[in-house]
Amino acid sequence: MRVFVTRELPFPALDRLRDEHDVDVWSEEGPPPPDALRRRAAGADGLLTMLTDRIDAELLDACPQLRAVANMAVGTDNIDLGAAAARGVAVGNTPGALTDATADLALALLLAITRRLPEGHARVREGRWGAWEPAQDLGSDLAGATLGIVGWGRIGQAVARRADAFGMEIVHSSRSSGIALEDLLERADAVSLHTPLTPETRHLIGADALRRMKRSAYLVNTARGPIVDQDALRRALEDGEIAGAALDVTDPEPLPADHPLLSAPNLLVVPHIGSATAGTRARMAAMAVENLLAALDGRPMPHPVS
Ligand code: DGY
Repeated sequence: MRVFVTRELPFPALDRLRDEHDVDVWSEEGPPPPDALRRRAAGADGLLTMLTDRIDAELLDACPQLRAVANMAVGTDNIDLGAAAARGVAVGNTPGALTDATADLALALLLAITRRLPEGHARVREGRWGAWEPAQDLGSDLAGATLGIVGWGRIGQAVARRADAFGMEIVHSSRSSGIALEDLLERADAVSLHTPLTPETRHLIGADALRRMKRSAYLVNTARGPIVDQDALRRALEDGEIAGAALDVTDPEPLPADHPLLSAPNLLVVPHIGSATAGTRARMAAMAVENLLAALDGRPMPHPVS
Protein backbone atom coordinates (compact mmCIF):
# COMPACT_ATOMS: atom_id res chain seq x y z
CA MET A 1 0.00 0.00 0.00
CA ARG A 2 1.04 3.62 -0.41
CA VAL A 3 2.02 5.68 2.59
CA PHE A 4 2.90 9.37 2.57
CA VAL A 5 5.15 10.51 5.41
CA THR A 6 5.10 14.27 5.79
CA ARG A 7 8.63 14.71 7.15
CA GLU A 8 11.99 12.95 7.03
CA LEU A 9 12.16 10.63 10.04
CA PRO A 10 15.71 9.59 10.89
CA PHE A 11 14.47 6.80 13.16
CA PRO A 12 14.60 3.00 12.69
CA ALA A 13 10.81 2.72 12.69
CA LEU A 14 10.57 4.04 9.15
CA ASP A 15 12.45 0.98 7.83
CA ARG A 16 9.71 -1.25 9.23
CA LEU A 17 7.19 0.74 7.22
CA ARG A 18 9.36 0.54 4.09
CA ASP A 19 9.66 -3.25 4.47
CA GLU A 20 5.92 -3.63 4.03
CA HIS A 21 4.69 -0.65 2.05
CA ASP A 22 5.51 1.80 -0.69
CA VAL A 23 6.67 4.82 1.31
CA ASP A 24 6.83 8.35 -0.08
CA VAL A 25 8.61 10.83 2.22
CA TRP A 26 8.40 14.63 2.00
CA SER A 27 12.07 15.54 1.91
CA GLU A 28 11.95 19.31 1.54
CA GLU A 29 12.62 21.63 4.45
CA GLY A 30 9.63 22.27 6.70
CA PRO A 31 6.16 20.79 6.41
CA PRO A 32 4.53 20.30 3.01
CA PRO A 33 2.42 23.37 2.09
CA PRO A 34 -1.32 22.52 1.91
CA ASP A 35 -1.49 22.03 -1.86
CA ALA A 36 1.62 19.82 -1.88
CA LEU A 37 0.18 17.82 1.03
CA ARG A 38 -3.05 17.32 -0.91
CA ARG A 39 -1.19 16.27 -4.07
CA ARG A 40 1.15 13.81 -2.37
CA ALA A 41 -1.54 12.41 -0.04
CA ALA A 42 -4.09 11.97 -2.85
CA GLY A 43 -3.17 8.39 -3.78
CA ALA A 44 -2.18 7.26 -0.29
CA ASP A 45 -3.74 4.50 1.81
CA GLY A 46 -2.01 5.78 4.92
CA LEU A 47 -0.57 9.07 6.14
CA LEU A 48 2.09 9.55 8.77
CA THR A 49 1.57 13.15 9.83
CA MET A 50 3.00 15.74 12.22
CA LEU A 51 1.20 18.32 14.34
CA THR A 52 2.06 20.86 11.61
CA ASP A 53 -0.11 19.13 8.98
CA ARG A 54 -3.74 20.19 8.76
CA ILE A 55 -5.88 17.13 8.04
CA ASP A 56 -9.36 18.51 7.43
CA ALA A 57 -12.43 17.41 5.49
CA GLU A 58 -11.13 18.95 2.28
CA LEU A 59 -7.85 17.06 2.51
CA LEU A 60 -9.66 13.82 3.38
CA ASP A 61 -11.95 14.25 0.38
CA ALA A 62 -8.89 14.52 -1.84
CA CYS A 63 -7.70 11.10 -0.59
CA PRO A 64 -10.39 8.59 -1.59
CA GLN A 65 -8.23 5.54 -0.76
CA LEU A 66 -7.18 6.75 2.65
CA ARG A 67 -7.66 4.26 5.50
CA ALA A 68 -5.47 5.59 8.27
CA VAL A 69 -3.77 8.68 9.64
CA ALA A 70 -1.03 8.14 12.22
CA ASN A 71 -0.14 11.42 13.88
CA MET A 72 3.36 11.54 15.36
CA ALA A 73 2.08 13.55 18.33
CA VAL A 74 -0.19 13.03 21.27
CA GLY A 75 -2.17 16.16 20.37
CA THR A 76 -4.59 15.74 17.48
CA ASP A 77 -5.93 19.28 17.15
CA ASN A 78 -4.44 19.37 13.61
CA ILE A 79 -6.89 16.64 12.55
CA ASP A 80 -10.64 16.96 12.04
CA LEU A 81 -11.50 13.79 13.94
CA GLY A 82 -15.21 14.00 13.11
CA ALA A 83 -14.47 14.27 9.39
CA ALA A 84 -12.08 11.31 9.60
CA ALA A 85 -14.61 9.18 11.49
CA ALA A 86 -17.35 10.10 9.00
CA ARG A 87 -15.13 8.82 6.17
CA GLY A 88 -14.06 5.65 7.99
CA VAL A 89 -10.45 6.82 8.34
CA ALA A 90 -8.76 5.50 11.49
CA VAL A 91 -6.68 8.02 13.44
CA GLY A 92 -3.90 7.18 15.88
CA ASN A 93 -1.55 9.19 18.06
CA THR A 94 1.38 8.64 20.43
CA PRO A 95 0.08 8.81 24.02
CA GLY A 96 2.56 8.15 26.78
CA ALA A 97 5.69 8.38 24.64
CA LEU A 98 6.32 12.02 25.45
CA THR A 99 4.91 12.24 28.96
CA ASP A 100 8.23 12.35 30.80
CA ALA A 101 10.00 14.58 28.29
CA THR A 102 7.19 17.13 28.33
CA ALA A 103 6.83 17.04 32.12
CA ASP A 104 10.60 17.54 32.42
CA LEU A 105 10.38 20.57 30.18
CA ALA A 106 7.50 22.05 32.17
CA LEU A 107 9.69 21.87 35.29
CA ALA A 108 12.67 23.24 33.39
CA LEU A 109 10.59 26.22 32.27
CA LEU A 110 9.21 26.74 35.75
CA LEU A 111 12.69 26.71 37.26
CA ALA A 112 14.10 28.91 34.51
CA ILE A 113 11.47 31.62 34.88
CA THR A 114 11.25 31.57 38.69
CA ARG A 115 15.06 31.61 39.08
CA ARG A 116 15.58 34.10 36.22
CA LEU A 117 17.99 31.91 34.28
CA PRO A 118 17.68 33.72 30.92
CA GLU A 119 18.55 37.08 32.52
CA GLY A 120 21.50 35.63 34.40
CA HIS A 121 22.84 33.87 31.32
CA ALA A 122 22.50 37.04 29.24
CA ARG A 123 24.41 39.06 31.86
CA VAL A 124 27.29 36.61 31.90
CA ARG A 125 27.45 36.43 28.08
CA GLU A 126 27.35 40.23 27.79
CA GLY A 127 30.16 40.80 30.29
CA ARG A 128 27.82 42.37 32.86
CA TRP A 129 28.57 39.88 35.68
CA GLY A 130 29.48 42.16 38.59
CA ALA A 131 30.39 41.30 42.18
CA TRP A 132 28.02 39.01 44.13
CA GLU A 133 25.31 41.12 45.72
CA PRO A 134 23.03 40.08 48.58
CA ALA A 135 19.86 41.27 46.91
CA GLN A 136 20.53 40.71 43.24
CA ASP A 137 18.90 38.16 40.92
CA LEU A 138 16.33 37.23 43.51
CA GLY A 139 13.82 34.71 42.25
CA SER A 140 11.07 32.70 43.90
CA ASP A 141 11.20 29.45 45.87
CA LEU A 142 9.42 26.38 44.56
CA ALA A 143 9.45 24.60 47.95
CA GLY A 144 6.30 25.52 49.79
CA ALA A 145 4.75 27.23 46.75
CA THR A 146 1.49 26.01 45.22
CA LEU A 147 1.48 24.66 41.68
CA GLY A 148 -1.85 24.75 39.88
CA ILE A 149 -2.08 22.12 37.16
CA VAL A 150 -4.75 22.69 34.54
CA GLY A 151 -5.59 19.35 32.94
CA TRP A 152 -5.08 16.09 34.80
CA GLY A 153 -3.98 13.67 32.11
CA ARG A 154 -0.70 11.78 31.90
CA ILE A 155 1.47 14.87 31.49
CA GLY A 156 -0.28 16.94 34.15
CA GLN A 157 0.14 14.09 36.65
CA ALA A 158 3.79 13.59 35.68
CA VAL A 159 4.38 17.29 36.33
CA ALA A 160 2.68 16.90 39.72
CA ARG A 161 5.06 14.05 40.69
CA ARG A 162 8.07 16.15 39.80
CA ALA A 163 6.75 19.26 41.55
CA ASP A 164 6.00 17.18 44.65
CA ALA A 165 9.68 16.21 44.76
CA PHE A 166 10.51 19.93 44.77
CA GLY A 167 8.34 20.40 47.84
CA MET A 168 5.48 22.12 46.06
CA GLU A 169 1.83 21.87 47.06
CA ILE A 170 -0.25 20.67 44.12
CA VAL A 171 -3.78 21.60 43.16
CA HIS A 172 -5.36 20.67 39.87
CA SER A 173 -8.40 21.45 37.79
CA SER A 174 -9.82 19.34 35.00
CA ARG A 175 -13.22 18.58 33.47
CA SER A 176 -13.73 15.61 35.79
CA SER A 177 -11.66 16.25 38.92
CA GLY A 178 -9.90 18.77 41.10
CA ILE A 179 -11.00 22.28 42.02
CA ALA A 180 -12.67 25.00 39.96
CA LEU A 181 -10.31 26.76 37.57
CA GLU A 182 -11.09 30.13 39.18
CA ASP A 183 -10.01 28.80 42.60
CA LEU A 184 -6.87 27.29 41.16
CA LEU A 185 -5.91 30.56 39.46
CA GLU A 186 -6.41 32.50 42.70
CA ARG A 187 -4.49 30.01 44.88
CA ALA A 188 -1.55 29.04 42.69
CA ASP A 189 1.94 30.55 42.78
CA ALA A 190 2.51 28.94 39.40
CA VAL A 191 0.04 27.62 36.85
CA SER A 192 1.04 24.90 34.38
CA LEU A 193 -1.21 24.08 31.42
CA HIS A 194 -1.76 20.48 30.31
CA THR A 195 -5.11 20.38 28.53
CA PRO A 196 -5.64 19.44 24.90
CA LEU A 197 -6.62 22.26 22.54
CA THR A 198 -10.37 22.05 21.93
CA PRO A 199 -13.02 24.70 21.24
CA GLU A 200 -13.59 24.78 25.04
CA THR A 201 -9.93 25.35 25.93
CA ARG A 202 -9.11 27.92 23.22
CA HIS A 203 -8.20 31.14 25.12
CA LEU A 204 -9.02 29.41 28.41
CA ILE A 205 -6.34 31.65 29.88
CA GLY A 206 -7.49 35.10 28.82
CA ALA A 207 -7.66 38.51 30.47
CA ASP A 208 -10.06 37.37 33.20
CA ALA A 209 -8.03 34.31 34.10
CA LEU A 210 -4.79 36.29 34.18
CA ARG A 211 -6.40 38.93 36.39
CA ARG A 212 -7.37 36.21 38.87
CA MET A 213 -3.77 35.04 39.20
CA LYS A 214 -1.56 36.44 41.94
CA ARG A 215 0.70 39.29 40.87
CA SER A 216 3.59 37.11 42.05
CA ALA A 217 2.46 34.05 40.03
CA TYR A 218 3.99 32.47 36.94
CA LEU A 219 2.37 30.82 33.92
CA VAL A 220 3.90 27.82 32.13
CA ASN A 221 2.47 26.46 28.88
CA THR A 222 3.75 23.24 27.32
CA ALA A 223 0.34 22.24 25.90
CA ARG A 224 -0.86 24.29 22.91
CA GLY A 225 -0.36 27.99 22.19
CA PRO A 226 -4.00 28.97 21.52
CA ILE A 227 -5.00 27.88 25.05
CA VAL A 228 -3.56 31.26 26.09
CA ASP A 229 -4.84 34.55 24.72
CA GLN A 230 -1.44 36.00 23.87
CA ASP A 231 -2.60 39.63 23.61
CA ALA A 232 -4.01 39.32 27.11
CA LEU A 233 -0.79 37.67 28.29
CA ARG A 234 1.33 40.46 26.83
CA ARG A 235 -0.79 43.07 28.61
CA ALA A 236 -0.69 41.11 31.88
CA LEU A 237 3.11 40.91 31.73
CA GLU A 238 3.48 44.58 30.79
CA ASP A 239 1.12 45.68 33.57
CA GLY A 240 2.71 43.39 36.14
CA GLU A 241 -0.53 41.44 36.64
CA ILE A 242 1.55 38.25 36.82
CA ALA A 243 5.26 37.84 37.56
CA GLY A 244 6.27 35.94 34.45
CA ALA A 245 5.48 33.34 31.82
CA ALA A 246 7.41 30.53 30.18
CA LEU A 247 6.05 29.09 26.96
CA ASP A 248 7.03 26.09 24.86
CA VAL A 249 4.06 26.66 22.57
CA THR A 250 2.70 29.82 20.94
CA ASP A 251 0.14 30.95 18.43
CA PRO A 252 1.31 31.00 15.69
CA GLU A 253 4.27 28.65 15.53
CA PRO A 254 6.89 29.59 14.67
CA LEU A 255 6.43 32.92 16.45
CA PRO A 256 8.03 35.65 14.30
CA ALA A 257 10.95 37.40 16.01
CA ASP A 258 9.11 40.74 15.73
CA HIS A 259 5.89 39.40 17.30
CA PRO A 260 4.59 41.90 19.93
CA LEU A 261 4.47 39.16 22.59
CA LEU A 262 8.25 38.89 22.52
CA SER A 263 8.64 42.48 23.72
CA ALA A 264 6.85 41.63 26.99
CA PRO A 265 8.98 41.52 30.17
CA ASN A 266 9.64 38.39 32.23
CA LEU A 267 8.86 36.09 29.35
CA LEU A 268 10.75 33.00 28.25
CA VAL A 269 9.82 31.29 24.98
CA VAL A 270 11.32 28.09 23.57
CA PRO A 271 10.38 26.57 20.18
CA HIS A 272 7.94 23.70 20.94
CA ILE A 273 10.57 21.29 22.28
CA GLY A 274 8.44 19.43 24.84
CA SER A 275 8.99 16.05 23.19
CA ALA A 276 12.42 16.86 21.78
CA THR A 277 14.64 14.16 23.17
CA ALA A 278 16.18 11.56 20.87
CA GLY A 279 14.57 8.67 22.76
CA THR A 280 11.15 10.28 22.90
CA ARG A 281 11.01 11.16 19.22
CA ALA A 282 12.18 7.64 18.28
CA ARG A 283 9.39 6.17 20.43
CA MET A 284 6.83 8.51 18.89
CA ALA A 285 7.92 7.47 15.38
CA ALA A 286 7.71 3.79 16.40
CA MET A 287 4.18 4.22 17.75
CA ALA A 288 3.04 6.06 14.63
CA VAL A 289 4.48 3.28 12.46
CA GLU A 290 2.81 0.59 14.62
CA ASN A 291 -0.49 2.40 14.17
CA LEU A 292 -0.11 2.50 10.40
CA LEU A 293 1.07 -1.09 10.05
CA ALA A 294 -1.92 -2.33 12.04
CA ALA A 295 -4.50 -0.20 10.25
CA LEU A 296 -3.19 -1.03 6.78
CA ASP A 297 -3.26 -4.70 7.75
CA GLY A 298 -6.93 -4.42 8.72
CA ARG A 299 -6.24 -4.61 12.47
CA PRO A 300 -7.22 -2.03 15.12
CA MET A 301 -4.53 0.57 15.78
CA PRO A 302 -2.67 -0.10 19.06
CA HIS A 303 -2.84 3.61 19.92
CA PRO A 304 -6.13 4.85 18.48
CA VAL A 305 -7.58 8.29 19.13
CA SER A 306 -10.92 7.78 20.73
C1 DGY B 1 2.50 16.47 20.87
O1 DGY B 1 2.86 15.29 20.69
O2 DGY B 1 1.32 16.81 20.82
C2 DGY B 1 3.57 17.45 21.17
O3 DGY B 1 3.12 18.74 21.18
C3 DGY B 1 4.74 17.26 20.24
O4 DGY B 1 5.84 17.73 20.91
